[in-house]
Amino acid sequence: MNTVSRRKMFGLLGGAVAIGAAGITIPSMAGEVEIGRLLPSRVRLPAPFGVRLPVPPVLRPGTHPRYPGADYYEITQRAAHREILPGLRTEIWGYNGIFPGPTIVSTRDRTTVVRQTNALPVPTVTHLHGGHTPPESDGFPTDLVFPQGSPPDIAQRMPRMADMPGMGPDPQARTTIGSRDYVFPMHQRAATLWYHDHRMGFTAPDVWRGLAGFHLIRDREEDALPLPKGDKDIPLMITDRSFAADGSFRYPALDPSLLRTPGVPGEYMAGVLGDVILVNGAPWPVAEVSASRYRFRILNASNARRYRLTLDPPGALTQIGSDGGLLERPVHHERLDIAPAERFDVVIDFGRYRVGQEITVRNELGDGSTAVVLRFRVTHRESDDTAIPERLAGFGPIPAHEATATRDFLFQDSGSAGWTINGLPFDPVRPVATVGLDATEIWRFTTDFHHSVHVHLVQFQVLSRNGRAPEPYDAGWKDTVDLRPAEQAAVIARFTDYPGRYVMHCHNLEHEDMSMMATIAVR
Ligand code: C2O
Ligand code: CU
Ligand code: CU
Repeated sequence: MNTVSRRKMFGLLGGAVAIGAAGITIPSMAGEVEIGRLLPSRVRLPAPFGVRLPVPPVLRPGTHPRYPGADYYEITQRAAHREILPGLRTEIWGYNGIFPGPTIVSTRDRTTVVRQTNALPVPTVTHLHGGHTPPESDGFPTDLVFPQGSPPDIAQRMPRMADMPGMGPDPQARTTIGSRDYVFPMHQRAATLWYHDHRMGFTAPDVWRGLAGFHLIRDREEDALPLPKGDKDIPLMITDRSFAADGSFRYPALDPSLLRTPGVPGEYMAGVLGDVILVNGAPWPVAEVSASRYRFRILNASNARRYRLTLDPPGALTQIGSDGGLLERPVHHERLDIAPAERFDVVIDFGRYRVGQEITVRNELGDGSTAVVLRFRVTHRESDDTAIPERLAGFGPIPAHEATATRDFLFQDSGSAGWTINGLPFDPVRPVATVGLDATEIWRFTTDFHHSVHVHLVQFQVLSRNGRAPEPYDAGWKDTVDLRPAEQAAVIARFTDYPGRYVMHCHNLEHEDMSMMATIAVR
């Protein structure tokens, strides 16, 4: 969809989505709406299913005298050249120079410390998505780590936030030079989290270049279940990318940290879509499996692309977990809609297929090269002592009557002001909401377009969609909720443990960079 027709759509919607005295009016819209703009590759795309599915390496923890009892890791963010498309070299920016970055596995209630060193040419800030993290380690977008070796006055030399339209300087930014230790107490359930760059105004190009990795949390409750484990517990990071003729990643703007405005030109403001689907950094890979159950922790780490995953030949995707860990009970899906930053933890039982069979994971929202994602090949029989228990975990619904406040947030296109929340562009200083420590609140998100709404610090529960019951994809604890055009979702959360400032934002990364983010203060 081009900009003109997208504008028209907003023109139509503009009068209909409104917060008025009588509350929010939600217009109805039929059909699927485009989610961004395709940036075509300038190389011949390889045939799908020609490379093996890689699995990112798991980092081994060390110790550090400053953090007794903690698991200590060191990661260096650096540029590297990798063969992503066969025969071509692509410069990536990766954690330890790989994409996806290394996987970190933490244990519940045991502190994890990650020393992130910045050997890139631009400032970065790392966020643990889904983490229940104190503010100084949460990766607030202006808490920049300047490149190693930067001059001591680099913070003053950098483009001022004031130069970004609608944004003032941020006197509260905690900047450092070279590295930062991110400290995660990990007082949270076993879950599939991920870490990625969160640099103010440049998250989209930085993640596109490869700054994303998995961070899993384990706990005893989950370890005791007979679910598939070890090499049958596989994280799958799905991203779309485009490639230039020389094999480099294509993106609407080269990242110039010296640019004074965020790097996304207007016509890609709806979101950048690639035509190559990468799973764990490999194009349309193939995974050899035995005829048994496997657990896949599926993450949509794409900037803007949504997927509707199905198996061909058809089969069940049995969801056991969501963003915030195990569900109370498994949910069987024939298709899985997954928006940017969401995680679905699923079990696929290849025991239902015969040896030699190939099972393709399709994307019903894609076409051409983006209509397929990966393939499994069943290579042998194997005894399988795993099971999917009918009851996976305890789940305490947060009672709605405990909420002490209900807030409305309208996510919309505000024309020249960019993407806004309640009509406002991102302001790191002035919070859009100040929440009491330990408060329970209901937040209602209303949208004009597809937005994947993410809140830092908390895991929430979806209470309703458009005033009706939540949908099958809403089960369990979530930190990101996928909203379709002209939709409203109400979620409930408890804001516990860590007073400070955080953000909430759309996880379409072009929307986020173009200002669809807001500061929330917990006091
Ligand atoms: Cu995954 Cu604020 O981000
Ligand atoms: Cu997050
Ligand atoms: Cu959005």
